[in-house]
Amino acid sequence: MKIPTHRLLPLAGVGALVVSLAACGSSDSGGAAKKNESGRGPITYVQGKDNTGDVKNMIAQWNSQHPDEKVTLKEQSDQADQQHDDLVQHFKAKDPGYDVVSVDVVWTAEFAAQGWLQPLTGPFTLDTAPLLKAAVAAASYNGTLYAAPTTSDGGMLYYRKDLVPKPPTTWQELLDACKIAREHHMGCYAGQFAKYEGLTVNASEAINAAGGRFVKEDGKTADVDTPEAAKGLSFLADAYKNGDIPKEAITFQEEQGRQAFESGKLLFLRNWPYVYNLANSDGSSVVKGKFAVAPEPGPDGVGASTLGGHNMGMSVYSKHKATALDFMKFMESEPMQRQLLVKQSNAPVLESLYADPELLADPKLGFLKTLGESLKTAKPRPVTPFYPAVTAAIEENAYAAIKGSIPVEQALKNMQAAINAATGG
Ligand code: GLC
Repeated sequence: MKIPTHRLLPLAGVGALVVSLAACGSSDSGGAAKKNESGRGPITYVQGKDNTGDVKNMIAQWNSQHPDEKVTLKEQSDQADQQHDDLVQHFKAKDPGYDVVSVDVVWTAEFAAQGWLQPLTGPFTLDTAPLLKAAVAAASYNGTLYAAPTTSDGGMLYYRKDLVPKPPTTWQELLDACKIAREHHMGCYAGQFAKYEGLTVNASEAINAAGGRFVKEDGKTADVDTPEAAKGLSFLADAYKNGDIPKEAITFQEEQGRQAFESGKLLFLRNWPYVYNLANSDGSSVVKGKFAVAPEPGPDGVGASTLGGHNMGMSVYSKHKATALDFMKFMESEPMQRQLLVKQSNAPVLESLYADPELLADPKLGFLKTLGESLKTAKPRPVTPFYPAVTAAIEENAYAAIKGSIPVEQALKNMQAAINAATGG
């Protein structure tokens, strides 16, 4: 199995990473950003696994209209860290074959600071006015747009509406409902608790909901060794300890949680909107028509999702940048944004779709209202070029706390120190 490269960094080496990244700044691309601006021809688009298979349909539409500028889809794995490391490897090799790449919102700062993404300025300017503001912010770094917003993502609570009379709005209500899970011999609650980016998402939701945060307003000074953060992380650690989070959930990424929910083994699941369509359509799903979504609960009422999403970045090493730009515009056009919502139950970045009465009334899109609300209040993860080391600090320690290997308070102290070591904060 491939070990993600940022996991190989010993903690003592993190300071060195800070220095080398800061030293190269945004000039590492060696003028590549000025080359091939009007290049046209076939390109490759790289993204994580096409779970629904529908991205292939979108690309087929583009290809039928652009026979001389065809797009080839390169699918990576379905795991965020592996996708990140694959991109880093190809950018480091200045690979002209990775023309357009799907950039998770948390990688924008790092890739932009390395000079790997074509700034979307001058001839590459995009009209961002109709797009969700948070998605535009997440595709920008230091005030410059570096990627074309494509899909957003907001967490939601999937629940079995055939078993739960009313979705919980607080953590306590959720825990109280676990007796229903026990009566039906099923697991109660799961999210993404394996040691990877998804755990950073889940830990940050719990910590934010309890009034905590990872870093101060300066974006680099750690501020996670607090009673609020302890309250948030304890929710997950206690639920794991007493079995309300089933033991196997410590290995769950998005897909394992989806499969457990689809096979009727879970009462509640925290996941992204893409699960909605699949859980209602997969041949093997036993929960078709038996579930609904609600906002994620928090300690005293509705909590806050962590903002997710993916945007399209153009590699500075692409030889066909004019084609790449047109393809990016095509993917954020109204018909494609509508298609990714309707066919993939992914979160569009086109704001008007969240208020479209026809879409809101469509029973197949029963998640749209909740998703729109989730996105309105979603909180970003720390924005920093040193994100890989920051997220490693969060994952390592949140994982140890949930598993019970170290007490929550100690985990937060370690996290605090490791975040500061990573950012120089
Ligand atoms: C989803 C989100 C992304 C997040 C990832 C974590 O793909 O869109 O932002 O980092 O999940 O697993």
